Amino acid sequence: MKFFVDSADLEEIGELADTGLIDGVTTNPSLIAKSGRDFIDVIKEICTIIDGPVSAEVTALEAGDMLKEAEKLLGISKNVTIKVPLTWDGLKACKTLTDNGSMVNVTLCFNANQALLAAKAGATFISPFIGRLDDMGLDGMELIEEIRTIYDNYDFETQILAASIRNINHVKTCALIGADVATVPGSVIKQLAKHPLTDKGLEGFLKDWKTTGQSIL
Ligand code: E4P
Repeated sequence: MKFFVDSADLEEIGELADTGLIDGVTTNPSLIAKSGRDFIDVIKEICTIIDGPVSAEVTALEAGDMLKEAEKLLGISKNVTIKVPLTWDGLKACKTLTDNGSMVNVTLCFNANQALLAAKAGATFISPFIGRLDDMGLDGMELIEEIRTIYDNYDFETQILAASIRNINHVKTCALIGADVATVPGSVIKQLAKHPLTDKGLEGFLKDWKTTGQSIL
């Protein structure tokens, strides 16, 4: 499973990119607003840090206007992935963009029929929002399972990009189901490496090592 960072925070993205474990980045208008920075500048800078896909979201609502915004965003770097909302206009724009060879991430997906349409429109990625479904008392993971089944039934190449991930169990379940990508907040990515028994075990090993009086170097 590929890992994308769900962030517009350049310091956080840079720190995680240094691990070599990050395959891409997703942003959205809310994350850009939170960064307090200029959208184009932020995307430009992320693309200098990350080689993989960097999702930049259009804000127009009509397909023609989305395509105009996409043209500007695609001019930033070859790894820009155009993010469009899962609306009829978003799907129309998606089809045009992917027919022209651009990468498209169709976002704000909340049911399997929407995901089916995105695949038919040639989307590179579909972004089902797990956490926001859970917030409503629904089961976000069920949606990932349904999309996996549908895409496998018809050999759709659209990659399932699990989004709105809130905790490490979301990440594990996505991997078990077979999501292609998980876009994860930096704080959750860091928690993935944590286990109290790892910390305790390491403490014990180092304590015993000290008694040997040895050093490796
Ligand atoms: C995905 O691309 C979105 O940016 C993101 O995952 C939304 O997550 P949220 O529901 O935590 O805002």
